[in-house]
Amino acid sequence: VSSEARQMIEAHELLRKFYHHLLINTKEGQHALEYLLERGFTKESIDKFQIGYALPTWDFTVKLLQKRGYSLSVLEKAGLIIKREEENSFFDRFRNRIMFPILDPKGVPVAFAGRAIEKNDQPKYLNSPETDIFNKSSILYNWNHARSSIKKQQQIILFEGFADVISADRAGIHNGVATMGTSLTDQHVQLIRRTTDSVVISYDSDKAGTDAAYRAAEMLIKNGCQVKIARMRDGLDPDEYIKKFGPEKFQHDVIGGSLTFMAFKMQYFRMGKNLQNEGEKLQYIEEIIKEIAKLEKAIEREHYMKQLADEFDISLEALSAQQQQVYFKEK
Ligand code: CTP
Ligand code: MN
Ligand code: MN
Ligand code: MN
Ligand code: MN
Repeated sequence: VSSEARQMIEAHELLRKFYHHLLINTKEGQHALEYLLERGFTKESIDKFQIGYALPTWDFTVKLLQKRGYSLSVLEKAGLIIKREEENSFFDRFRNRIMFPILDPKGVPVAFAGRAIEKNDQPKYLNSPETDIFNKSSILYNWNHARSSIKKQQQIILFEGFADVISADRAGIHNGVATMGTSLTDQHVQLIRRTTDSVVISYDSDKAGTDAAYRAAEMLIKNGCQVKIARMRDGLDPDEYIKKFGPEKFQHDVIGGSLTFMAFKMQYFRMGKNLQNEGEKLQYIEEIIKEIAKLEKAIEREHYMKQLADEFDISLEALSAQQQQVYFKEK
């Protein structure tokens, strides 16, 4: 580790402690703490995940770290402060935000994500940029905590965001990590694959999360993983679901009831279609039998063909004949 990287990490460590202290113990941090507690975060999870608060001032970080002897150009490279173009001066990247430290697999803080507290404050999450110590596409949030549980349970749960991981952790799910909104990368997949081959994708059930879950499932399956996909009603995300229906229902109904990729596809392909309409119904059936044809196991193919036959009251023979036409002839 170069001494510059060393300094960047030390600066993150120092700031993490200050931010946490400001949130927990000061009047300045009180509204941020109230916001978190109102959302259902507990003192324990705030402590475990070392959540903090960055002051609204423009130069808290600049002054604090300069006083401690850090070089401003190193802090700029670390993404903690930003240079003003006109003058030779710097200001803090993170102001008046709830701070989530992002740790590397060893538990060393290498970046921050700052969540806005006020409703109209944009963006909702402000993140550290890519730096010498922070490669976003290889880091999974909470990996450092979750790794041993993932190993023991031989299963990982994949979330989108910080609050999802933290609420799930509070609900007793300790093998959860988050891709932090970005799509799953090859590096993430390799990291997961070295530890387990069983993945439950528990992304948000809105349109964006559902599309992202589809792509993540394809990638993971291509790399030899067993994949299940968890679904929640009304486009909720896991954090919102746990708050609304409780940890038990999340465990049993959502994680326990998670779908195979094929069952997920049967829901996915009907989104935006009106199956009362004859044409759209036939299109749906064709799409699904193509997908079923791609399944490796004959018993799986039969299972889903039967399900389709039952649902639409079509004979298995007719469906199979159609499958021959639309899929196997195409190949
Ligand atoms: N994200 C981001 N930048 C944004 C929005 C989102 O980096 N402007 C990342 C964050 O890691 C966030 C994740 O994407 O946790 C999922 O995004 P979203 O579902 O929009 O946010 P939530 O995690 O649900 O945020 P919250 O519960 O705090 O409202
Ligand atoms: Mn503490
Ligand atoms: Mn989302
Ligand atoms: Mn969300
Ligand atoms: Mn959320």
